Amino acid sequence: MTEDTLFAKIETKGKSLAKQLERVLREFEEIKLQEPGDLSSPDLFILDVGEDPEGELDRFRPLLQSSLKNEVFITSAVSESQIILMAMRAGAKEFLPQPIDEEDFKHAIAGFIARREQACTGEEVGRGRIINVMGGKGGAGATTIAVNLALAVAMRDSLSKVVLFDMHKRLGEIPVFLSFKPAFDWSEITKDIDRLDDTFLMNILYKHSSGAYVLPAPARMNNYMPLMPDTLDLLMDKMQRLFDIVVVDSGNPLEDTACKLFERAWTNLMISTPSMPYVVTAGRILASLKSAGYRSDSAKIVVNRITKHPEVPLSDVETYLSAPIFWSVPNDYKTVSASINRGAAIVQEAAKSAVAKNIQGLADALLHGEKKRKKKWLFK
Ligand SMILES: Nc1ncnc2c1ncn2[C@@H]1O[C@H](COP(=O)(O)OP(=O)(O)OP(=O)(O)O)[C@@H](O)[C@H]1O
Ligand SMILES: [Mg+2]
Repeated sequence: MTEDTLFAKIETKGKSLAKQLERVLREFEEIKLQEPGDLSSPDLFILDVGEDPEGELDRFRPLLQSSLKNEVFITSAVSESQIILMAMRAGAKEFLPQPIDEEDFKHAIAGFIARREQACTGEEVGRGRIINVMGGKGGAGATTIAVNLALAVAMRDSLSKVVLFDMHKRLGEIPVFLSFKPAFDWSEITKDIDRLDDTFLMNILYKHSSGAYVLPAPARMNNYMPLMPDTLDLLMDKMQRLFDIVVVDSGNPLEDTACKLFERAWTNLMISTPSMPYVVTAGRILASLKSAGYRSDSAKIVVNRITKHPEVPLSDVETYLSAPIFWSVPNDYKTVSASINRGAAIVQEAAKSAVAKNIQGLADALLHGEKKRKKKWLFK
């Protein structure tokens, strides 16, 4: 045993679960099981909350909160989202559903050891860049661009950790675009943002096959508090610590929380189509942001759904918005709507299409500068 040995304590309802957990723990030479009767605070506490999670968490509360550097894993035969939330609020780092998947458990233990090593070396985690995707008038293509941009970055650079966050108040559409059933949305995790542990947050985000993580919006009217600007700040602090790129489908750009995001973002994309109602709405949003004191001229204009002969010529769009067009995305209703209807991202399922290549180009232009930027206007 060395000075660096980590002590683990297991508390289960049944002997066979304890034996299984102990057997796996013994495979890790960094970890030693605490002797029975040893009342000191362990480095890792694995607690089976059985069928009374609330009571069990209450009973162990002093131990759960005894030291900031200790970690708690909670396991239960019931893995409903309410119990997982309760575990998170009690400060758990991991939730292990029963029967235990040993590979997942080993992964969780390896993560625990790595975090302890990182804490010893004092390694710093980087600051992620926020890309705020703002739609002006509904249907401009904000969700299409946010989803595919996030996935394009995740697929292009597997070393970049990317999260896609849907800030809409309700009826978020990202799970439809990517055909998954979310276990959690932001309304559930922001309620107790102060107690939201980084590792736990990573565990409850949906992980898409592209490598991007997703935090969706509530699917219906939510009973929780709306996302307030201060809460957004705390959530973004965490997201930027955990991810290199945070892509946000930001919803109504003029709400207080969206303005806060605008101020904080590394890049703001204003999405419009080349048709007058969209251009006018985009212009009004930028003007409103400017009159409220935000640097709206820093927003990058992206014109979506351009054709050979756009309803409003692109030069007129620039004149009207008094800003250059940063990027334009071709109109390809067949490919885009087919992808959305199949719940498959364009950059994954139709990777060779012009729209997919264009959005990959947008990712390059944003992250790697002008060098790789393709022709600004596809049709002129
Ligand atoms: N480049 C494109 N080519 C053709 N059709 C597109 C393109 N981009 C988006 N669309 C279509 O436009 C519709 C609206 O797109 P999307 O849902 O992304 O817009 P939005 O700005 O997020 O809308 P909302 O304000 O309702 O959230 C979709 O049905 C999609 O099929
Ligand atoms: Mg949308």
